[in-house]
Amino acid sequence: SQDKLWGGRFSEPTDSFVEAFTASVEFDRRLYRHDIQGSCAHARMLARVGVLTEDECGRIVAGLEDILAQVERGEFEWSVSLEDVHMNVEARLIERIGDVGKKLHTGRSRNDQVATDIRLYLREAIDHLLTEIRRLQRGLLDLAEREAETVMPGFTHLQTAQPVTFGHHMMAWFEMLERDYDRLVDCRRRVNVLPLGSAALAGTPYPLDRHYTAELLGFDRVTDNSLDAVSDRDFAIEFCAAGALIMTHLSRFSEELILWASAQFGFVDLPDRFCTGSSIMPQKKNPDVPELVRGKSGRVNGNLIALLTLMKAQPLAYNKDNQEDKEPLFDTIDTLAGSLRAFADMVPHIQVRADVMRAATRRGFATATDLADYLVRKGMPFRDAHEVVGRAVRLGVETGRDLADMSVDELKGFSDIIEADVHDVLTLEGSLAARDLHGGTAPRQVRLRIAAARERLTEA
Ligand code: ARG
Repeated sequence: SQDKLWGGRFSEPTDSFVEAFTASVEFDRRLYRHDIQGSCAHARMLARVGVLTEDECGRIVAGLEDILAQVERGEFEWSVSLEDVHMNVEARLIERIGDVGKKLHTGRSRNDQVATDIRLYLREAIDHLLTEIRRLQRGLLDLAEREAETVMPGFTHLQTAQPVTFGHHMMAWFEMLERDYDRLVDCRRRVNVLPLGSAALAGTPYPLDRHYTAELLGFDRVTDNSLDAVSDRDFAIEFCAAGALIMTHLSRFSEELILWASAQFGFVDLPDRFCTGSSIMPQKKNPDVPELVRGKSGRVNGNLIALLTLMKAQPLAYNKDNQEDKEPLFDTIDTLAGSLRAFADMVPHIQVRADVMRAATRRGFATATDLADYLVRKGMPFRDAHEVVGRAVRLGVETGRDLADMSVDELKGFSDIIEADVHDVLTLEGSLAARDLHGGTAPRQVRLRIAAARERLTEA
């Protein structure tokens, strides 16, 4: 096995099982680019403050860039006995450029190094996820605009409640994603802080210019306490919490698509290329993508709990426990990226069955509240109106008819203040148009919200 970078004080080699058990290179090697990026910045800063000569710095940076290219060509051989990504890269550097490579780790520890790498990696991941959220949101805006007038039953308790527009429903999903977007932006502010320079736990006697390193790496600021900096994983937990909410939203979204695509609802058609068939039942077209996304919300919730539990009893400062932060974090990033991508790709191609939704809205007395509001406008107290309409609905249930199917005379039997204009409020369009206030389902309001949302998206 290769020589350890810390072999000096040891009198026997590491047990081979322990070596594999304590290694993280199988999963932290994905940090290679950020690890090298951080090392190059560290070397440049060391040269600037005179700890390295310009020549030494140049050779180190060139060596690191060669290693980067080698990894990207798939030619880098990762070694478990070198434990993690950091020591694999550093050992290779020393192998390639000789003794000068041994100076890179001056004034640095893997503790501040790994914290820096994760922050760099997560910052990039957040930026990608933000782009994907926006892509999905644009798809929703287009769909909402196309279906701004399309009526569908709005539900509470999954029972028909009141008519809404399909556009309004799409905009509800849009709003959830808008909050998700904001949460990630906010989380990113606390991710984008540089821990490097905290060294193992106490700082370092070298005259490091931490602000310069931060500038080179695009960090907004540097951490203020070295003990905290090497042991803090709040930013990863926050990210996973924001991720759990994103998946919760996508999961609810999935649940509705799955219901709506069923023969019993028939509200939408999902594109064939996002569905799969059955090996036995020839008629099947299964909504696998939404089902899987709904299922994957579970692992993201699990990752959040794993990280909270990982951190809850750790004394300051760094502990090896922290090596366990990576898999839940990476899995959350991957799951979010995949799920958002699938939805952003699929949403623009959802086919809406307006006729089916209209027919469904006409069942279930969706305009009963409108009739009660009509009576209120004619002077009846709301509670009495509720009772009157309730009796009319009961007749409808018994005779298999909607309120709109009853004659004026028949309705007058429930209250003599009902007149010929009653049918205006019993129509679906009348019901929608009446809810013409900020946040309401009237097509005019939905269009206003879509326009405002589009404006917000172009600003950002
Ligand atoms: N592989 C380690 C991790 O993921 C890097 C930091 C190790 N530091 C140490 N003192 N053992 O956390």
